[in-house]
Amino acid sequence: MNQQTAILSVVTQHDEALTRALAVLRRGGIIAFPTETVYGLGADAMNPSAVQRVFEVKGRPPTNPLIVHVASIDRARAFAKNLPPIAFQLAEHFWPGPLTIVVEAHDSVPRVVTGGLDTVALRVPKQEFTLRLLESFGGGIVGPSANISGRPSPTLAEHVLEDFEGKIDLILDAGQTHVGLESTVLDITVEPPVILRLGGVTKDELISVIGSVNSVGERESLKQRSPGTRFRHYAPRATVILVEEGNVERMDMLVQENLRNGKKIAVLTHSPMFMNRGYGEVQQHFQGDLRAFARNLFKFFRSADREGCDILLVEKVSDEGLGATIMDRLRRAAEKNHATT
Ligand code: TXA
Ligand code: MG
Repeated sequence: MNQQTAILSVVTQHDEALTRALAVLRRGGIIAFPTETVYGLGADAMNPSAVQRVFEVKGRPPTNPLIVHVASIDRARAFAKNLPPIAFQLAEHFWPGPLTIVVEAHDSVPRVVTGGLDTVALRVPKQEFTLRLLESFGGGIVGPSANISGRPSPTLAEHVLEDFEGKIDLILDAGQTHVGLESTVLDITVEPPVILRLGGVTKDELISVIGSVNSVGERESLKQRSPGTRFRHYAPRATVILVEEGNVERMDMLVQENLRNGKKIAVLTHSPMFMNRGYGEVQQHFQGDLRAFARNLFKFFRSADREGCDILLVEKVSDEGLGATIMDRLRRAAEKNHATT
């Protein structure tokens, strides 16, 4: 499809952005909207042909279901067969915020949204403009990350433009997203609930509110339930090589070796010993704290791609708290020979 993609600032063009976005949604078009995690590709969740177009422009397999964004737990009721008490408990602690819950879908939810499943993923994002939009729209807005399938999720409006210029109607620009990694997806149709994807809410935070929580890895068969985990994700075009935390010798060795082979390299580290390491012409990025590392990771991937880097050398972080989410994304980005959908 060839069309003009408008970009409006939700800060300086707030009212116009709201009016235009509502008009696009109501006529079955596609917007890109900001959330606290990453930008989403939005369409009216109750309009099957609009949702279908979201799958098409993203190049997303039809069996990989979409998250429905709503303004509040109250608005979530319309999409769920029933909301168990634990949904209200979770909503009270984490909504608006980077948690998505998977519940039994209401019969009225188009099955194109759920990839044919009888469950639906719901979330209330923590982004002021988008909450106003959801409130005014009244219904649900589907929101897969606004990237071509397999590419790193967008944390800036320009990332969305890179992937979808001329293919969607409107981009709502709110600057860089705050969290930078996607929401945690929690299946609450099972007891205890299962984390299908780690994200902005950590496992410990969930445990402190609802007690027992499983991770998908702990029960292999449950992988069936989280279609998104079957696909290669978050990957830059460059080859990602992970280096153990603080292993300066190995980093030095990999830098020298790849430079000798004529490779263009970018390095991303966080430990103090890597500061001012002086790798000459190599691009070095340093993110001293975990939140900044998370916020800037996908931006690092995309800018390295734009500059034609061959190799990205990334220092691992400790596998705890938000670090576990970062490591999940890093491992996927470093995986090879997976289907690149
Ligand atoms: O932070 C986020 O979650 C962002 C922003 C835009 O909200 N959205 C996002 O959507 O990351 P997406 O489509 O890129 O990832 C959604 C994940 C996928 O792994 C998908 O398989 C899973 O949620 N999912 C959606 N509905 C599901 C369902 N009914 N059962 C199991 N997994 C589901
Ligand atoms: Mg995605």
